Amino acid sequence: MTLEQKVGQITQADIRSVTPDDVRKYYLGSILNGGGAWPGMNMHGSVDDWLKLSDEYYRASMSTDMAVKVPVIWGTDAVHGHNNVYGATLFPHNIGLGAAHDPALMARIGHATAEQIRATGITWAFAPTLAVVQNPRWGRTYESYSSDPAEVRAYAEAMVAGLQGQLGSATSVLATAKHWLGDGGTFHGQNEGVTQTTEANLYRTHAAGYYGALAANVQTVMVSYSSFTDTATGRAWGKMHGNAYLNTDVLRGRLGFEGLVVSDWNGIGQVPGCTNWHCPQAINAGIDLAMVPDDWKKFIAWTIEDVQARRIPMSRIDEAAARIIAVKLRSGLFDRSPAAGPHPGAEVMSSPSVRELAREAVRKSLVLLKNDGALPLKRGRILVVGKGADSLPMQSGGWSLTWQGDNTKTSDFPNADSLLAALRKSLGSTNVDYSADGTGVDVSRYSGIVMVAAEKPYAETAGDIVFPASLRHSSRYPEDLAALDRVSGKGVPVVTLLFSGRPVAANDLMNRSDAFVAAFLPGTEGLGLADVLLAAPDGRAAYDFTGRLSFDWPAGDCLPQQGGYRFPRGYGLSLTRPARLGPLPESPPTMACPPESR
Ligand code: GLC
Repeated sequence: MTLEQKVGQITQADIRSVTPDDVRKYYLGSILNGGGAWPGMNMHGSVDDWLKLSDEYYRASMSTDMAVKVPVIWGTDAVHGHNNVYGATLFPHNIGLGAAHDPALMARIGHATAEQIRATGITWAFAPTLAVVQNPRWGRTYESYSSDPAEVRAYAEAMVAGLQGQLGSATSVLATAKHWLGDGGTFHGQNEGVTQTTEANLYRTHAAGYYGALAANVQTVMVSYSSFTDTATGRAWGKMHGNAYLNTDVLRGRLGFEGLVVSDWNGIGQVPGCTNWHCPQAINAGIDLAMVPDDWKKFIAWTIEDVQARRIPMSRIDEAAARIIAVKLRSGLFDRSPAAGPHPGAEVMSSPSVRELAREAVRKSLVLLKNDGALPLKRGRILVVGKGADSLPMQSGGWSLTWQGDNTKTSDFPNADSLLAALRKSLGSTNVDYSADGTGVDVSRYSGIVMVAAEKPYAETAGDIVFPASLRHSSRYPEDLAALDRVSGKGVPVVTLLFSGRPVAANDLMNRSDAFVAAFLPGTEGLGLADVLLAAPDGRAAYDFTGRLSFDWPAGDCLPQQGGYRFPRGYGLSLTRPARLGPLPESPPTMACPPESR
């Protein structure tokens, strides 16, 4: 291979910035569709549109003037099902799956997701996220399974095995252990911030998922935007994208990882002295494939120049290109076009079995935090209240059709049921009325009220609750408390569900509810919610609540310094084990929280 061909091979560009002919001309090794990028930029594109584009890129990569052609590989953020694709069944986000405490379920979800991805001609998933989140302020808390390293390790092994299956088979995709290392441990939960801890705790807590992923032969690792400061020595190692010690000596030398290391979106540009298109430090630190979504042409030119000027040894480029090609060989990509060869049919995007799997996952993800006898709801006339009750965007969260999960509406999610739709399917439309805010409703006409309090969708930094802001849900969403005030305390039982990407302070919501369910971000299968909320026709519980918190739940508006929490990790009631919660303290909203220790 020529230098140009090797540097092209270590370059990854976004489909919005690269054509199939560019892939051919510049020998590009990889492409991706970032959140909100679809074939032809059509959000409602068909599975066939994805297949056609995949085949165009693949054929272009196989028509270069190279002596031995090297196929391009396409990566996508399929983080709760194939969530960029219109009509796909979306599973609960990881925080809810963590509450299920069911690694075998993860393997099943991983396999189903891999089939969805292969049905579109793509062979690489940027999942699972293995963050072990320490502070719920982080906007990516919902991408984490648990604050318990042991659970994250078990889930990592299961999810990677589910996604990768038999490498090279028509239902296998490469998995990505991300984001290496310490993404969930930043101070104040600041996205892309600094993880201040000892090296020993970095390996004990934040690397736990990687031990599981490596045990399942994970083929790719994505580097974190965060930085690491060693509190034992005081050494500020700086940005992970420039950390040769952790990316090479530890990940390769000590842990024996043999796959490829990919940077995050323009992550190389965050290394001091670097730009999004020029960073010899990151390549020399052990990044094999550079995710340079837009400035990839400049990256190629600068990197060629770096090699010629000996700022990057040719041996490093050879090693990076060889690793990428080795992963492609193991994935079967050289054997046939993933779009033209055998692959699952479009039905796997939302087949009855996929929807049933997602529905089961929803049931298992729900955590009952309060039940003063209101559950299961009798099958009478129900009033549904709250802005999130008929909103698939809020029910699904970020990374759902678009990166932020915004600019979408419920009708953009066919093959799906909002909670309201699910209750109407279960009870009959005439038995279920809806009011977004509870204004002017005579609640005495109903046998029960279902209230949904919900965060608006977000992803990454947009989701941070920036210190010192309060963690109280109603401080950020007063409309939910107002709606609950209108319908509660009038002699009709109120069951409140919270759609959120993290544990939040909710004493005021719980005090106005006869039952309270942490539903996290359930995804498209609202029937899984109805299954557990409603009594069976014979009046008995159709399903029980089996979910248990995978994160501590705050008692007040701020992270407790003394470690006191309203509900500890592992907490969750069942219908056979109700518990009267009693009134919770409702202090005036906190305007600013005291300094935190993490
Ligand atoms: C994002 C995320 C990463 C994702 C990548 C590609 O910024 O940090 O998790 O895989 O870019 O979309």
